Amino acid sequence: MFDYRSMFDLSGKSALVVGAGSGIGRAGSHGLSAFGAEVICADVNAENAQRTAQEIEAEGYKGQALELDMCDPSSVRAAVELIESPDVLVATPSINVRKPLLEITDEEFDRVVELNLKGTFRLIRDFGRGMAERGSGSIIAFSSIRAQTVEPGQGIYAATKAGVVQMLRALAAELGERGVRVNAIAPGIVETPLTNQIKNIPQWYEAYAQKTILGRWSEAHELVGAIVYLASDASSYVTGSLMLVDGGWTAADGRYIPPL
Ligand SMILES: NC(=O)c1ccc[n+]([C@@H]2O[C@H](COP(=O)([O-])OP(=O)(O)OC[C@H]3O[C@@H](n4cnc5c(N)ncnc54)[C@H](O)[C@@H]3O)[C@@H](O)[C@H]2O)c1
Repeated sequence: MFDYRSMFDLSGKSALVVGAGSGIGRAGSHGLSAFGAEVICADVNAENAQRTAQEIEAEGYKGQALELDMCDPSSVRAAVELIESPDVLVATPSINVRKPLLEITDEEFDRVVELNLKGTFRLIRDFGRGMAERGSGSIIAFSSIRAQTVEPGQGIYAATKAGVVQMLRALAAELGERGVRVNAIAPGIVETPLTNQIKNIPQWYEAYAQKTILGRWSEAHELVGAIVYLASDASSYVTGSLMLVDGGWTAADGRYIPPL
């Protein structure tokens, strides 16, 4: 009989979470450790990575910190030498410059693409190699509802988030036979430092809440179920997928509730 109770068990597995210092990466680090994984909490902000690792240790789980800048190829290579190939890689970091396309500078374009697309590429390439050699692994990177729907001011961010999905699908297709699964998570609206700009404008914040079917924003811990699922054997037949965790944002039009 299949052991259903251990489907989500991550005991004995190592997980590298890049972006562990804040928001979804921080919550994901907590969640993965709670399910048994030994979590390496990596972030360009070494202090915040350390804080997350200490929180995990204080809870009685296994966590360690690592300073890692995914925009710096040598920093990623050094991390690969240190950790070799973790069982699970979670890549969260991204930035958004919310401006009309006609006003975006080349420098802003490069900054967003460099982190969101190229940085994610560097991580999945450099850690994917070790996983492929070993013949197992789960790679999880972050897209967004902006891979599917846009609004003014989201052009470059949306392009990177759609690009990440296609890049991950290609990697899934390339590594499937070698035992490595590759999936993307698309959050809707999550209260983290990334969305502070929106929270500070009440009309914007409330309009976003009302656009979802659930009528509210999510908190970072509400993304953790998807992370643990995709990291664990519970998703052993899931690869190349885009998992929406968006409170129904993309399912319903949301502009008007008819008087039925
Ligand atoms: N928050 C939302 O509403 C929302 C919505 C849709 C998608 N997402 C996606 O979810 C992911 C996580 O977002 P979040 O809200 O947790 O963001 P966040 O800003 O709270 O955290 C990002 C973390 O990445 C780290 N980081 C930045 N540059 C880095 C680098 N070069 N190397 C290593 N680490 C670096 C930051 O220090 C920070 O700790 C992103 O990909 C984002 O696009 C978020």
